[in-house]
Amino acid sequence: MVETVTAFDQADRLRKIVSGLREKSDSIIDQAAKKINKKARLIAVTSGKGGVGKTSLTVNMAIQLSRSGYRVIVIDGDLGLANVEVMMGIVPKYSMYEFINSNLHLSDIIADGPSGIKFISGGTGIVEMARLEKKKFDKILFTMSALDNYADFILVDTGAGISNSVTSFVLAANEVILITNAEPTSITDAYAILKIISLHNEDCKVRVIANMVDNSKEAEDIFTRINTAAKRFLKKDIINLGYLPRDAAVSKAIKLQIPFAVSFPKSTAAKGIEEIVKRIIADTEFRQDPEGVKRFLSKIYISFSSSL
Ligand SMILES: Nc1ncnc2c1ncn2[C@@H]1O[C@H](COP(=O)(O)OP(=O)(O)OP(=O)(O)O)[C@@H](O)[C@H]1O
Ligand SMILES: [Mg+2]
Repeated sequence: MVETVTAFDQADRLRKIVSGLREKSDSIIDQAAKKINKKARLIAVTSGKGGVGKTSLTVNMAIQLSRSGYRVIVIDGDLGLANVEVMMGIVPKYSMYEFINSNLHLSDIIADGPSGIKFISGGTGIVEMARLEKKKFDKILFTMSALDNYADFILVDTGAGISNSVTSFVLAANEVILITNAEPTSITDAYAILKIISLHNEDCKVRVIANMVDNSKEAEDIFTRINTAAKRFLKKDIINLGYLPRDAAVSKAIKLQIPFAVSFPKSTAAKGIEEIVKRIIADTEFRQDPEGVKRFLSKIYISFSSSL
């Protein structure tokens, strides 16, 4: 009997400690949100064709940004499978879907990923949020806006293609990383995305990564093809963010569920990510006037309400 009471006391004490820790972490996030009046750079990562490396590159760029001293949140904006969490080997407790449908704290949906990055499972929750009545949406938006001050970079991994849900994410972002490989279909599909961006989000800064290439010459050729067409037909300037060679470390890392920047830091893929991230950091043009998560979610809301 005495033992049972002791066990109960211990469990109670533990519960109090855990709840104290949770309140503490909530207040850390809230304080960070209030104190630092700096907005996050939100970058959507997309592609025309699927399976070209969006999720792998998003996760590893996030890790490299974090190692460079930035606070990074990855949002899984793919409405299909939860690939980001599988690649990072983490299982977040709650997604944005539960956040919208119950009374959770923002910190409840922020999971810890490798190398200090944070992760939010957005997915269908973002679409669900876009369908809320305005008053409820505004409340969610107010809470989610804390992320603008909490992170330096927010990377959104999107699905591929030109479906409404993907384009609404891409058109809501002020910075886009467009990934393609050397296949002609991947290049023409990347161009199709670029065309939509140039028509509906003309100020958007678009950077291109050639992934799974055989050498730097092939990467240059891919960029030149897209750039020439973009200049001639869309009057759109795009930026060459670099390339990643085809490297077995990428799929090995996926199997291990440990991103290659962590599991194979000396691989050519990891070195490629380092170069790419240096260029992202060096380009500070948007640091002064970033859109942040608030504008991003508002734009998605508007685009979904107008398509209903
Ligand atoms: N540089 C690379 N070298 C070798 N394999 C790669 C490279 N980049 C990606 N891959 C492989 O390509 C496959 C698809 O990668 P990933 O899931 O990141 O693409 P995705 O664009 O997110 O796909 P989806 O459109 O389905 O979301 C994976 O099996 C991965 O191992
Ligand atoms: Mg993916």
